[in-house]
Amino acid sequence: MDNKNRPIGFFDSGVGGLSVMREALKIMPNEDYIYFGDSKNAPYGIKSAEEVRELTFKAVEFLLNKGVKGIAIACNTATSAAVADLRKMYPELPLVGIEPALKPAVECNSDGSILIMATPMTLKEEKFNRLMKKYEDRADIIPVPCPGLMEFIEEGKLQGEEVEQYLLDKVNTYKKGKISSIVLGCTHYPFIEPVLSKIVEEDTIIIDGGLGTAKELKRRLSEKELLRESSEIGKIEIINSLNKKDVIDLSYKLLEI
Ligand code: DGL
Repeated sequence: MDNKNRPIGFFDSGVGGLSVMREALKIMPNEDYIYFGDSKNAPYGIKSAEEVRELTFKAVEFLLNKGVKGIAIACNTATSAAVADLRKMYPELPLVGIEPALKPAVECNSDGSILIMATPMTLKEEKFNRLMKKYEDRADIIPVPCPGLMEFIEEGKLQGEEVEQYLLDKVNTYKKGKISSIVLGCTHYPFIEPVLSKIVEEDTIIIDGGLGTAKELKRRLSEKELLRESSEIGKIEIINSLNKKDVIDLSYKLLEI
């Protein structure tokens, strides 16, 4: 098969990476996609970096065996644990990861602080701490670890009292005065953004890195002349390690949101 016609691989610990893939679909609708969600081993965010690294290596190998031409690690947790090693292992592969979108949050910062919601592991890892150091003089940045939040999305609970209460508790525990913006530093969280925006002030900006990551992926593929030239809408294949109909149905539903 012509390299340009090979699919693009997406990976996440579960269904969260679909929030990134839906952005990719908007700007690269003519590509074929294979999405692999590792819901069986989720959540990654409370595992050790070593465990997440191994699981991510396996997932990348799985996608490469499926013949993908480039890969998006659509998981902040897996990116912080594994992307540096993956770049060394596959220097020729168009590979993008995702990290909490701190830069745009700092750039549009008015008065108030910036909350970074992410998994405990993402916030503990060196990658995030380096990022935080880069911007900490320019804004009051507050990391907010959210263990237990991705589980709601994995169960298809995108709204309701439980989700709202969880978010209220988090925001109230960590905020100090006015919140200027909230960064969704886990790819599951954009799916509960409507609930979050209901409980914060109207002028609080909620930011996620999905579109930025999709654009970066497009740029890398284009650089290697790997973008598909067809004008037909591409195909989507969703694979999940849980192998359950429910999770596959939920995945397709999330892509439509
Ligand atoms: N979706 C993942 C992320 O972006 C993490 C969820 C998990 O804990 O597995 O960080």
